[in-house]
Amino acid sequence: MAKVYAIISGKGGVGKTTSAINLGTCLNELGEDVIIVDGNLTTPNVGIHLGAPIVPITLNHVLNNQAKLEDAIYEHESGTKIMPASLSLKETKKINPKKLAEISKKLKKITNHVLIDCAAGLGEEAKSAIRAADEIIIIANPEISSITDALKTIKLSEEMHTPVKGLIITRYKGKKTDMSVPNIKDMLEVPLIGIIPEDEAVRESQVIKNPVIITHPKSKAAKSYDTASRRMLGQDIELEPFKRGFFITLFRGLGFG
Ligand SMILES: Nc1ncnc2c1ncn2[C@@H]1O[C@H](COP(=O)(O)OP(=O)(O)O)[C@@H](O)[C@H]1O
Ligand SMILES: [Mg+2]
Repeated sequence: MAKVYAIISGKGGVGKTTSAINLGTCLNELGEDVIIVDGNLTTPNVGIHLGAPIVPITLNHVLNNQAKLEDAIYEHESGTKIMPASLSLKETKKINPKKLAEISKKLKKITNHVLIDCAAGLGEEAKSAIRAADEIIIIANPEISSITDALKTIKLSEEMHTPVKGLIITRYKGKKTDMSVPNIKDMLEVPLIGIIPEDEAVRESQVIKNPVIITHPKSKAAKSYDTASRRMLGQDIELEPFKRGFFITLFRGLGFG
């Protein structure tokens, strides 16, 4: 059955857009049908990350009944389908984000996975995405401020009766100053879908305007996004980057993995 996921964090700059485009591209490469929707209605993200040209018809037009849904879906050179938001201020002023739920229902009829890249914060834009989603995927960095925001996001989605699919920890440096993974799991009490390491390849891919799994398929970040997307599909595989060595045993012992 088709599913709509809101990729959300509360905090900005944690890796939501990076995760949305890489999970979407991984799922596409695995043969799944997926559309990434830019839920940053007032400050578009997806098109910017993917270097999409300014397109004539966007999600904003569909939300305003000015265009048909199918006309706002574009195929990126990586093969991933995206529905960009509008860069034009004129288009962003008129939007009614509440209509996003209607759009996601229609999208489920033409694709299997819809990933909504959410706006920062827990304002009306993010709430609309939670309302439009079947499940939410939390993105957080291993820092107390980010984990606190993740907790707020989980509470909000509970209040809104949208279940949490799981958590992806991004920008994981494995340093002493990072919160430990078992601690994060204890605080958030949601399934762990993936751990994406801090990786220079992500920044390089952003400059090239392509997902890291395309530009640097052998990088640690790319492998971790591949693992996370397979786990999203329910495949029983170990988490990166702890596949080998001491850590996986230790974490397993702590009920992790
Ligand atoms: N795993 C990573 N390693 C290194 N840099 C990253 C990683 N994930 C994201 N970034 C960088 O962090 C910044 C914020 O990421 P972004 O996906 O735009 O966050 P958000 O959508 O939550 O605001 C970007 O400059 C991005 O390149
Ligand atoms: Mg973003």
